[in-house]
Amino acid sequence: MSAYTAPSFTLATSIPQRGVSAAVLLVGVRPSEKESDKGPKVVDAQLLDKAAVKSIEAALKAVGASGSADQLTRVVVDGLPVASVLAVGLGKSDSAEAIRRAAGVAARSLDNVEILVTTLSERDVDATVQGVVLGGYRFAEFRSAKTAPKDAGLQKVTLLVGDKGRAQKDAMERGAAVATAVTTARDFVNTPPSHLFPAEFAKRAKALATAEGIEVEVLDEKELAKAGYGGIVGVGKGSSRPPRLVRLTYRGAKGKKAKTVALVGKGITFDTGGISIKPAGGMENMTSDMGGAAAVIAVALLAARRQLPIDVIATVPMAENMPSATAQRPGDVLTHLDGTTVEVINTDAEGRLILADAIVRACQDEPDYLIDTATLTGAQLVALGTRTPGVMGTDEFRDRVSAISQSVGENGWAMPLPEELRDDLKSKVADLANVTNHRNGGMLAAGHYLREFVADGVQWAHIDVAGPAYNTGGPWGYTPKGGTGVPVRTIFGVLEDIAENG
Ligand code: BES
Ligand code: ZN
Ligand code: ZN
Repeated sequence: MSAYTAPSFTLATSIPQRGVSAAVLLVGVRPSEKESDKGPKVVDAQLLDKAAVKSIEAALKAVGASGSADQLTRVVVDGLPVASVLAVGLGKSDSAEAIRRAAGVAARSLDNVEILVTTLSERDVDATVQGVVLGGYRFAEFRSAKTAPKDAGLQKVTLLVGDKGRAQKDAMERGAAVATAVTTARDFVNTPPSHLFPAEFAKRAKALATAEGIEVEVLDEKELAKAGYGGIVGVGKGSSRPPRLVRLTYRGAKGKKAKTVALVGKGITFDTGGISIKPAGGMENMTSDMGGAAAVIAVALLAARRQLPIDVIATVPMAENMPSATAQRPGDVLTHLDGTTVEVINTDAEGRLILADAIVRACQDEPDYLIDTATLTGAQLVALGTRTPGVMGTDEFRDRVSAISQSVGENGWAMPLPEELRDDLKSKVADLANVTNHRNGGMLAAGHYLREFVADGVQWAHIDVAGPAYNTGGPWGYTPKGGTGVPVRTIFGVLEDIAENG
């Protein structure tokens, strides 16, 4: 099966009278505020005629729809040029996230529907587009005809809007571009480790970057060893599939005095734990351990696609963490790119080893900001659960990143780096140990480790997405099972904010 192709979108100020007879009309509904009349109310439907709205509401009331968040009700309504009407509950909220989730829930439910017309766009074009693309996402690359989806999915979406001006057009384009970046990250995460290993990951990233017209540099295992990337080499040496470092450079500043943002993402294409091997139960989920790398690659491509007026340099270490006769051992000492020596006490704390080298390299470009992201610690899941990224870093920038993460619906939360935890990373033989000798504050201890390598004066944020990058539960809103694409929208939101406000 081929990759997911998102539907195409067009703007219209009324329901087209031709070519939509097989279409579904998607409307948002909310619970009635009046006690006396319990039926759901259609929201933002100025572009439908009043009689049609009345008929839709009557049909929904007749089948007992309530308008509560995410509730789906499909009804047939006379007098509209579409085959049926799908109502999706918005609950009491009218935020962009409510629209995104509603559009996502609806898109997920549409089997055998090729054409959609929607009024959700009257409230928010960008959110509607993102919800539809992300909710309709499927990953069928490894399904043969035996289990492949039977239909081609949604092909065409008409967005109803009050006017078809520049702002609406740009919102549509932005929404589609952002959603496409999220699906790029999801595709990478969902590609199994049999097919995505460091050299292949680097090759695919390079192909995408070249197509987008951005500069690519790939270091192989020999170049990494020669240059002194001890962390990446140490983690990668247990695998027959050697490590890589990919650097993507997008220059949007064009000679003007604009900010430079460094991105770093953890690219462990599979994490067995190495010699400190993980238990078998759930180990297959460690195919997601390159979620940070996938996100920063997708964001670098998106920055270029959207022509942001800043420089963005992604530094992406890739390795497979395997146990073998050539693997690093607990107790080994390695030397990072800046000369810092580390006692590897636990080979399963490998993410910080490859990230430290990458952070040192990224800081050599003298960026104003550095954002790193990683499926770094099980402790993130313990502290914040499956859907809330932990955001650490320099105070001001950390708070800015978490506020933006909240606003885009990825919901990152600011976390501290308590000073007392730093001392627990002391080693008896080297400058640092890669773990503490206790489990308390594990996400924060990992943050401390990374902080050691961030150059002074760089505003830094570290986003731990161990849980949020990969959904091992059922689908919800616009989030499918498997790769979620988190935190692509957070990081891109931050880049847009830096482009606008410095
Ligand atoms: N890749 C894991 C973290 C992880 C756990 C990601 C669960 C997604 C879901 C990471 O490399 C790891 O194994 N971390 C160890 C660190 C420990 C040894 C200090 C952990 O969290 O147990
Ligand atoms: Zn690990
Ligand atoms: Zn890992």
